[in-house]
Amino acid sequence: MSKHIGILTAGGDSPGLNAAIRGIGKTALGIYNMQVTGFMDGYRGIMENRSIRLSSENLSGILTLGGTILGTSREKPHKMQVGGKMMDMTDVIVENYHKHHLDALICIGGGGTQKNAYHLMKHGLNVVTLPKTIDNDVFGTDVTFGFDTALSIAVEAIDRLHSTAHSHHRIIIVEIMGHNTGWLALGAGVSGGADVILIPEIPYDIEVVAESILKRERAGKHFSIVAVSEGAISKESAQKIDILDKRKAKAADEKEKQKSIQKELKEYKKRVIGDTMQLAKELEQLTLVESRVTILGHLQRGGIPSAYDRLLATRLGTACAEYLQNEKYGIMIAVRGEGVEAVPLDQVVGKRKSVPLDHPWIDCARRVGTCMGD
Ligand code: F6P
Repeated sequence: MSKHIGILTAGGDSPGLNAAIRGIGKTALGIYNMQVTGFMDGYRGIMENRSIRLSSENLSGILTLGGTILGTSREKPHKMQVGGKMMDMTDVIVENYHKHHLDALICIGGGGTQKNAYHLMKHGLNVVTLPKTIDNDVFGTDVTFGFDTALSIAVEAIDRLHSTAHSHHRIIIVEIMGHNTGWLALGAGVSGGADVILIPEIPYDIEVVAESILKRERAGKHFSIVAVSEGAISKESAQKIDILDKRKAKAADEKEKQKSIQKELKEYKKRVIGDTMQLAKELEQLTLVESRVTILGHLQRGGIPSAYDRLLATRLGTACAEYLQNEKYGIMIAVRGEGVEAVPLDQVVGKRKSVPLDHPWIDCARRVGTCMGD
C-alpha cells in the first residue's frame, strides 16, 4: 500500500522552503507513489484541518519562489490561541493526523519547530523534520537552508552602506537578524568587510568598540561600519544577566522568589539585548563621529532563494522522501558535508548551535583587523 504523508512549514519563513516542499513532494509522488497533503500555516493548519492535496501541478514552478506556498505560523500544538484563550490542542492535532490516515508528518522549521515535532512524536505521531532558518542555529546540522540567501542580502546591504558612510564620514551600524546567535552578523560582517562585528557569543565593551573607531579616524579613515547582531549584548549587561541567573538557580526551592527573579530577568533582557539605537548613541558620544542605524529586519527573509539554498533544500527534501519510504521516523534530516544524515530528534531539541568562540570565521575576522568588541 502506498503511503500518505503530510507536510507543514512552521516558524519564521525562510528562503528555500518551497524548494524543500517540492523536493519532498516530487520524490514522494513520482518515485514512491505516495499521497502528499500540505497543511496550511504551520501547526495551526493541522489543528484546524486546513489542507491541500499536493500534486505535480501545484508543486511545479515553486522552486524559485520565496516564502512558503503552505503559509507558516509560530504557534505551538500545546499553546494555541483558540477563542481568545491559550489552549493545548495536541489531542486535536493527533486526531486530525489519524483522520487523514497519515503515515507520517514532515515538519519543516527551526529550533521551535523541532521541539514541537518532538512533542507530537511523544504523542504517538510519526514525524520527520527538516532544518530551516536564516539564523543557522539548529543543533545537529552543519547548516540550515535560508541562511545563505539571508547572508547575501546582508552582505549586499553592507556593501551599499559603505559608500554612504564614506561620503558622510559617519559610523553606520547595521543590525542583522540571527535571534540569539551571531552566524549571520559574523558571516555578513566578514564578507562585507565590516570594521566592527558584534555578536551575542562575544559580549562587547563599548570603550573597546569606540577606541577601534577612533583608531581608524587617526589613520585617516573617517567612516566605520559596525555589523551588529540583533542579539548582541554588552559585557556589563551579560554580567548582570549572569548574576540574575545565579540568583534564580539559588532560589530553586522558593517558587515565588524564583518567579519574581525570572520576571526581572525577562524585563532586563528585553531592555538591554539588541538596543541598537542606544549603541549608536553611546558610540557617537564616545567618538564624536555622527552615527546612523540601519535595521535590515525581514528584508533578510524575503525574496527568491539563492542557488545554494535551492540545492540544499532539494537535497534534504528528496532524501527525506527516501527516509519516509523506509519508515525511518523521529528524525531530523541534517546536512553533513556533502552528505545527508538522520539525527534522532531527541538529540536536536532543547539545544542551540551558537558560534563557537574558536570558530575560523571569528579567527579570520580578527586577523584582518576587525574589532569583535572584546
Ligand atoms: O528565526 C528567524 C528570525 O528571522 C530571527 O532572526 C528573528 O529574531 C525572528 O525570526 C523574527 O521573528 P518574527 O518574524 O516573528 O518577527
